[in-house]
Amino acid sequence: MSTSASDAHLHDDLFAPDSDAVLQLRGVTVRRGTKNLIEDVDWTVREGERWIVMGPNGAGKSTLLQVAAARMHPTTGDVGILDEVLGAVDVFELRPRIGLSSAQLAQQVPDGEKVQDAVVTASYGVTGRWREEYEVEDEGRALALITQWGLSRLAHRRFGTLSEGERKRVLIARALMTDPELMLLDEPAAGLDLAGREKLVAQLTEVAEDEFAPALVLVTHHLEEVPPGFTHALLLRDGQVVTAGPIEQTLTEEHLSAAFGMPLKVSQHKGRYAAVAA
Ligand SMILES: Nc1ncnc2c1ncn2[C@@H]1O[C@H](COP(=O)(O)OP(=O)(O)O)[C@@H](O)[C@H]1O
Ligand SMILES: [Mg+2]
Repeated sequence: MSTSASDAHLHDDLFAPDSDAVLQLRGVTVRRGTKNLIEDVDWTVREGERWIVMGPNGAGKSTLLQVAAARMHPTTGDVGILDEVLGAVDVFELRPRIGLSSAQLAQQVPDGEKVQDAVVTASYGVTGRWREEYEVEDEGRALALITQWGLSRLAHRRFGTLSEGERKRVLIARALMTDPELMLLDEPAAGLDLAGREKLVAQLTEVAEDEFAPALVLVTHHLEEVPPGFTHALLLRDGQVVTAGPIEQTLTEEHLSAAFGMPLKVSQHKGRYAAVAA
């Protein structure tokens, strides 16, 4: 579609995301009833960046991620995702370019689905295998991801029979299936035991340090789950951005205490963070 000089005045405010941005939100508000779930959010994720999104329960983290995943449209504001603008793009073409793992998506995977199928179906953007024929390359890629995420012996197990940790890893393998340019993980460590969490943090550290890995956004409310190698953080409270920027300047006692509404003592050891009440 071309924009002629005659209709240019209709687009005074035409939104053009920065060329190195994989995700760009400008003045984004999501309203439900009288409540703003997120409010006036400005946020830019650039190629190669690895972001943490952190904030207390109900802060709007999952809402923000749904918008970033092209699964929810803002009430007001502009959203650029991978050179496309939400509202001016077929989201069904955009979504396969975005890897997403969330509790909501986990619920959509049928209990009877085999692990191998739960991963391969991502290439069609569906969660249940029916009668589609998948390419041999797709099946091969699914198997490679299943192996990489330590799920080989579970490839033929039904999703509904897996432990929480196993399910989380299946969802991440699934999110990587389409070789996405943007990867969004909503609380991937929730519900894991200590060993499960530590394994996941180690695996996410590997992804973070892989220069060929997609831009990454990881939502968590636990500082202990921040994998070394993440470069930026955004803190949310009551739907509003408390602060956003390079991780060292963001995950500080001052900002975290403000985000969680409680004085916190934050420590850092070998790239890992921890927090307790001050
Ligand atoms: N469809 C909805 N209608 C009204 N309120 C909602 C809706 N979805 C979420 N909320 C509320 O919006 C707030 C933000 O939710 P959410 O984005 O899930 O937060 P987080 O992921 O940070 O815990 C919460 O208070 C939640 O109860
Ligand atoms: Mg959430």
